Amino acid sequence: MKTTRVTIHTLRQMKERGEKIAMLTAYDASFARLFDEAGADVLLVGDSLGMVVQGHDTTLPVTLEEMAYHCRAVVRGASRAHVVGDMPFGSYQASLEQGVANAAKLMKEGGCHSVKLEGGAVHAELVRRLVSAGIPVMGHIGLTPQSFHQLGGFKVQGRDSGGRERLLADALALEEAGVYAIVLEAIPSDIAREITETVSVPTIGIGGGVSCDGQVLVSYDMLGMDETFKPRFVRRFATLGQTIKDATAAYVSEVRSGTFPSDAESFAVSEKRAADPQLYSTVAAKK
Ligand code: KIV
Repeated sequence: MKTTRVTIHTLRQMKERGEKIAMLTAYDASFARLFDEAGADVLLVGDSLGMVVQGHDTTLPVTLEEMAYHCRAVVRGASRAHVVGDMPFGSYQASLEQGVANAAKLMKEGGCHSVKLEGGAVHAELVRRLVSAGIPVMGHIGLTPQSFHQLGGFKVQGRDSGGRERLLADALALEEAGVYAIVLEAIPSDIAREITETVSVPTIGIGGGVSCDGQVLVSYDMLGMDETFKPRFVRRFATLGQTIKDATAAYVSEVRSGTFPSDAESFAVSEKRAADPQLYSTVAAKK
């Protein structure tokens, strides 16, 4: 049976009904399929892939071509979730024309269903242009990792004088420009609550407290892939880093001792089968 795709309209209805939105980052087809089957509503192909997949210290080096590559993989893995492609640093800041051309490229080549960009009122005109070109946009305010050097690091935002007013003004400017949702990253919970109660579009928090209309986490953090990394707003729902290391150590040991592979995991010429089953199945075949 074909599943119904989550759309930007579904997300708006979820806010209206008071149903929380569960969003996760995804970077490849296998994880996308698992997150999708487990019920995630939105999969963000975040430029956080620069850190958790590519091993950089910031998201800044990620290119538009790399984002499109990962978007294509995630779209292949997800049947129900809405897939958002992150506009990487330098792909929309130079001019409105650059932003529109690159967002269209990401939608066309990445196959994502909408794009996300960082920044508030300063990008309102770009959001307006994108929306009128038929490109749904998710905003992102608070801690905006692409401004790492400007912000002086990954720090909670909005605590300085005027911080609350600036965040509220940014959220309102984005809403007025036509975003369908806004990510609120690393801001005090009471500011996130005020924004959530003020704007009509869903807010998705990451370090924004429980009042947001939805939550997002970097999937690698939520799955506990890195035992050394746990910011306060992250909850580890698994400790996959340790599980992967344990499984790898067991594999290494069985390869070395010669107990893997067994006969049952090997082929014999004498085995006659009418029709050999397919050895490999792909994400596409599972759909
Ligand atoms: O790139 C990313 O993963 C993000 C989320 C942290 C919201 O922007």
